Amino acid sequence: MTDIQWVYGLKPESMTLQWRQRIIDLFLSETQEVYQDSSLINLAIPEWDGNLMLIDRSTYPKASSLKGILWCKPFMEDSVRVLAFVIDKTFQSKGYGGNAWKFMTGKMKNQGKKHVQLEVKCSNIDAQNFYRVRGMEIIRRIDLYYKTEHGYMMRGDL
Ligand SMILES: CC(C)(COP(=O)(O)OP(=O)(O)OC[C@H]1O[C@@H](n2cnc3c(N)ncnc32)[C@H](O)[C@@H]1OP(=O)(O)O)[C@@H](O)C(=O)NCCC(=O)NCCS
Repeated sequence: MTDIQWVYGLKPESMTLQWRQRIIDLFLSETQEVYQDSSLINLAIPEWDGNLMLIDRSTYPKASSLKGILWCKPFMEDSVRVLAFVIDKTFQSKGYGGNAWKFMTGKMKNQGKKHVQLEVKCSNIDAQNFYRVRGMEIIRRIDLYYKTEHGYMMRGDL
């Protein structure tokens, strides 16, 4: 039986190699993006309300118990930037992403942040719709932001 819950995440550099590898595998399977261990660490995600991990508590602390992450960083004076948001296929479209988004944006608003910003692949219509429903809009296209395709920058008010 699964026992799925969002919890606060560790800094990538404080995780074991196995946990970082699990995140790299999630990125690859769900977004087709290739990350190296060093690029994960270089993201320098702090431990704060914008670092959440979706965990299956019934198999924790196995690396395979990690089912998703939401990684954000403070950005400019009053904004937050989402650097990674990914959920294991089996657990997508069940409300988990929406719950993490609501929690994170609520906390950021309380901290005085005004805007949220991110990049998404032009072909990733499902994610764009997820963000659009939550008040974000495309503000510009970034040519070849990804290795194989263009990206959109999306921005919204908190
Ligand atoms: C994008 C992503 C993080 C969203 O997380 P998610 O858990 O799938 O999102 P949710 O389930 O909360 O919401 C998606 C839709 O599922 C449906 N949904 C929500 N709760 C549901 C439930 N309990 N049962 C069935 N469907 C539900 C809703 O239709 C929702 O649509 P809405 O956005 O109009 O509210 C996730 O789908 C994912 O990892 N995708 C692949 C990677 C990716 O594209 N990441 C973004 C890169 S920028």
